[in-house]
Amino acid sequence: MLKIDNVSLKYGAFTALNRVSLRADQGELIVLLGANGAGKSTLFLAISGVHPIAEGKILYQGEDIAKWKSPRIVKEGLVHCPEGRKLFPGMSVYKNLQLGGYVHKKDKKGVEEQIEEVFELFPILKEKQHQMAGSLSGGQQQMVAIGRALVSRPKVLLLDEPSLGLAPLVVKQMFEVIQRINAQGTTVLLAEQNAYSALKICHRAYVMERGNVILEGDKESLLHNEDIKKAYLGA
Ligand SMILES: Nc1ncnc2c1ncn2[C@@H]1O[C@H](COP(=O)(O)OP(=O)(O)O)[C@@H](O)[C@H]1O
Ligand SMILES: [Mg+2]
Repeated sequence: MLKIDNVSLKYGAFTALNRVSLRADQGELIVLLGANGAGKSTLFLAISGVHPIAEGKILYQGEDIAKWKSPRIVKEGLVHCPEGRKLFPGMSVYKNLQLGGYVHKKDKKGVEEQIEEVFELFPILKEKQHQMAGSLSGGQQQMVAIGRALVSRPKVLLLDEPSLGLAPLVVKQMFEVIQRINAQGTTVLLAEQNAYSALKICHRAYVMERGNVILEGDKESLLHNEDIKKAYLGA
């Protein structure tokens, strides 16, 4: 479905991604672990066409999309839910969700139906649809961010640190929803520092360090990996 093949990316002279390779097959939930600065967000920005790559291939459904522009990438179903939510705080929840439908704006009815589906997933957003997004709690704002991405109709959803700054109970609900989105057929790439909760719901995971993929494995092997336990699971 999505294959990152030896991708490097530079910010000026600084190599932020160094020959990174990974893949997500149809229906998988893939977790990307790594400390601050490892390159997780950079990889997502490269995939979604925000930052050009220096070398390598980004294959999506068999096509190299490295030179595609962001709107086309979104329209084809590769949707990025960015770190820090990036909502329009002074606009209503509904308007924010509607923005996710921008690439499908000719299909007004489809966008409305998609928003209704988001309301089924997050009933609280239906109640608060007329409130300004900035007035919601952190967890609810994250729901809006994920909801907006869903309105773009992802086949592959890139979720960048959705649990950041949320209370433990809210984090738990967030991971349940991510698992549900995946179970409904969306391939998910999830960047997280909340390693234990993320590994629990994943199929496979990759660990990044300073722009490199240093480890990969399935859920069980990583949950029981001694280095992972020491670095991320507080063992
Ligand atoms: N726009 C940018 N310009 C220069 N350096 C950047 C930029 N964005 C990120 N970096 C650097 O690239 C590295 C990877 O950052 P990032 O992808 O945000 O990591 P992560 O998401 O894993 O925390 C860091 O060293 C960061 O300082
Ligand atoms: Mg990041």
